[in-house]
Amino acid sequence: MKIAIVTDIHHGPVSHTKKEGWDGLAVLAGFIDWAEENGADMILDLGDHISDTTRENDLRVMGEVVAAFGRSKLPRVHVLGNHDVAKLSVADNEQIFGASMQSRVHDLGAFRLIAWQPDVEIRWPHGFVETGAHLDWLIDTLNADPRPAIIATHVPVSGHSQIGNYYFEHNPQFSTYPDHERIRAAVEATGRVAAWLSGHVHWNTITTIAGIRHITIQSMSERFTTMPEPAAAFAMLEITESELDLVVHGEDPFAARMPFRASGARPWMQPTGPFSQREAAPELEVLDA
Ligand SMILES: [Fe+2]
Repeated sequence: MKIAIVTDIHHGPVSHTKKEGWDGLAVLAGFIDWAEENGADMILDLGDHISDTTRENDLRVMGEVVAAFGRSKLPRVHVLGNHDVAKLSVADNEQIFGASMQSRVHDLGAFRLIAWQPDVEIRWPHGFVETGAHLDWLIDTLNADPRPAIIATHVPVSGHSQIGNYYFEHNPQFSTYPDHERIRAAVEATGRVAAWLSGHVHWNTITTIAGIRHITIQSMSERFTTMPEPAAAFAMLEITESELDLVVHGEDPFAARMPFRASGARPWMQPTGPFSQREAAPELEVLDA
């Protein structure tokens, strides 16, 4: 099973780091053709299709993105990002895409792809809101089927460091959900998830926590890591029975191979408590690490 991935296309005239006059639609079209030529079974898009300006303009540029995706007959899974709902509603997006943008499950045979769509609207100055009933849905959905799951969201929940990130080093509250710790704990407790794919943070990362591979993919239009050229990033994720193979292409290439299995198949040991609470001399424990 091969999943071709693109994220944070940010089509539209305004972006803090986008190159003047750069045509993202041409790169998107190239990605879609590449996905077909390279045997992708489906296309996964992780949101932020546009850079929002006005409702009128957002409707127009969102329509151009959807038209570009329409050049392929491959099955597509889309999630929404914060810029997609800044001036438009979820219903607007559903109408333009002609598809549901609610959380949903895609049965891929040996495993399931769960497109999880909690609220992605950013509220000033606090950022995203807690995921609430969306998290209840996710946990119920994971518990309902024993097959390994891959979760796809715009916003990552790994809680990984944002040091060095152009947007989020000084604004970490906008990089993830305020309840990311609770989300991880609840999902880890199901033992069902193998990998978690996200965009939003505009860089390539893998953070493995309790056996779950939290992966973020570089934005197609970003260039804070690739100045002066845009990253033009897109990826292929190949999943076999026991391995997950990720290759990100473009100006910010990245590759990784890792086991593919539900986290509960090989549970990690829970992290130990603070060494200072141990009766033994703490320096001995530190030496062990
Ligand atoms: Fe973005």
